[in-house]
Amino acid sequence: FNENELKLIELNKQASEIFTHLLLNTDLSTNALKYLLEERHLSRETIADFQLGFLPSQWSLHDFFEEKKIPVETQLESGIISQYDDGSFHDVFSNRIMFPLKDSYGNIVGFSGRTLDKNNSAKYINSKETAVFKKSKLLYHFDVAKQAAKVSQKLLLLEGYLDVIAAHKAGIDYGIASMGTSLTKDQLQLISRNTPKLTIAYDGDSAGQSATWRAIEEIKNFPHLQLEIVTIPNQKDPDEYLQRNGPDALKKIFEEDSTSINDFAFEYLKKGRNLENVGNLSDYTNDLLNFLNEHPDPIANDLTLKKLSDQ
Ligand code: UTP
Ligand code: MN
Ligand code: MN
Ligand code: MN
Ligand code: MN
Repeated sequence: FNENELKLIELNKQASEIFTHLLLNTDLSTNALKYLLEERHLSRETIADFQLGFLPSQWSLHDFFEEKKIPVETQLESGIISQYDDGSFHDVFSNRIMFPLKDSYGNIVGFSGRTLDKNNSAKYINSKETAVFKKSKLLYHFDVAKQAAKVSQKLLLLEGYLDVIAAHKAGIDYGIASMGTSLTKDQLQLISRNTPKLTIAYDGDSAGQSATWRAIEEIKNFPHLQLEIVTIPNQKDPDEYLQRNGPDALKKIFEEDSTSINDFAFEYLKKGRNLENVGNLSDYTNDLLNFLNEHPDPIANDLTLKKLSDQ
């Protein structure tokens, strides 16, 4: 890191500490804390583990930074403070629950903020790209998960922050999240350098299943990475599944209910098709055979071909 990058990381660290303090220890955050404890069923310990925070709308981070004599250029460069056209300053993440985003070494390089307002169309917003925050090169919780992967020999790729936290509640610390973007080559490189095996458990809804399909396609370029897929039942995400069925049930589906990419493709390609219809059946068969061609694995593919002919 150069001097400027270190300044941004230090500022993020100070901001994160104040967000956590504001959330846990002040009356300004009563609603946010109640939301996390009662609606999301997080404990104070989990909030502290993940360094979650809150930025109350009555509070000014900009004023706080001014008191700390942090140059306004640094404030703006961090992306946490922004400037209106009239020159006035405002807190980008005002009234949001804060998730610190860290690099592989645990440095806080940016934030994601969740609104508490169900009618706000921007459910999560992220820091803008900065000298230290490159979203496409980061994976949420990777700093912890890469250590856990030394034991588990695998990483678990999830969609959202709260899914990673749900995995943690289920005793799994090798969960990571790609933060709403489709998986990039840089992220896959990070993954493949740190584990032989990746389990994808995106949301069970159709958006999550399409994202799984796209991820499988992207991972073709990393043939040494062994892939398996978990589909969360009933269109739920892992966090919703945990709320409904408990941590042990979530741990069990992560560890025992995975399928091969062939089995995923076998089902996924059926969507929107009626296989009783000859045209649909032939399209389905073509797509599946193409998939097998692009994923050469003689033993697995033989089994899939057999399944196809038995169907
Ligand atoms: P989801 O819509 O599945 O959100 O988006 P979630 O993780 O289940 O969040 P909760 O449970 O409603 O709080 C998955 C991920 O996509 C990114 C976030 O990283 C989120 O965790 N996302 C989603 C955004 O960046 N912006 C959005 O407006 C929504
Ligand atoms: Mn803990
Ligand atoms: Mn989703
Ligand atoms: Mn979700
Ligand atoms: Mn969710």
